[in-house]
Amino acid sequence: MAKTVKIDSINEETVVQTNDNLLSVLLQKDLKVSRECGGRGMCATCHIFIKGGMEHLSPMSRREQRTLEVITTCGTNSRLACQARVVGDGVVVELPAGMYVSEVEDIEALIGQRASQDILHPLYGTVLVETGKLITRTMISQLKETQGEVSQVLARAAD
Ligand code: FES
Repeated sequence: MAKTVKIDSINEETVVQTNDNLLSVLLQKDLKVSRECGGRGMCATCHIFIKGGMEHLSPMSRREQRTLEVITTCGTNSRLACQARVVGDGVVVELPAGMYVSEVEDIEALIGQRASQDILHPLYGTVLVETGKLITRTMISQLKETQGEVSQVLARAAD
């Protein structure tokens, strides 16, 4: 059975099959989701806010709860798109502002430019570089360290 989901940030509605997760909704709309943990419920990169229809999503697992607890921008209406499955009509999704480090395609090419939007930490959702700030070489090495940290956390989780 098909269910309707609205993505508020782009003001578009889409139809998914019952039990499809919200990540598939975002990808269907070509929205950039870096899925740093590969959809395992362990990173901040698919963090979304539910503006309506929270009761039409699958319940939160213990793992999702634990991950949301470390995402600093998390609110009472937060979910991980890869974990939340659509079970009823009328879910309304809002995307957090900013881009994740892993989405910054050629990080080195950004040196000397001002960040066009907040650059976020892929595990915690914290703002690493604010919009409008000049991106320096030092900043780039810090961003790269962040990527290393993500790999370590995910490798530990796979053990
Ligand atoms: S892709 Fe990492 S938690 Fe969803």
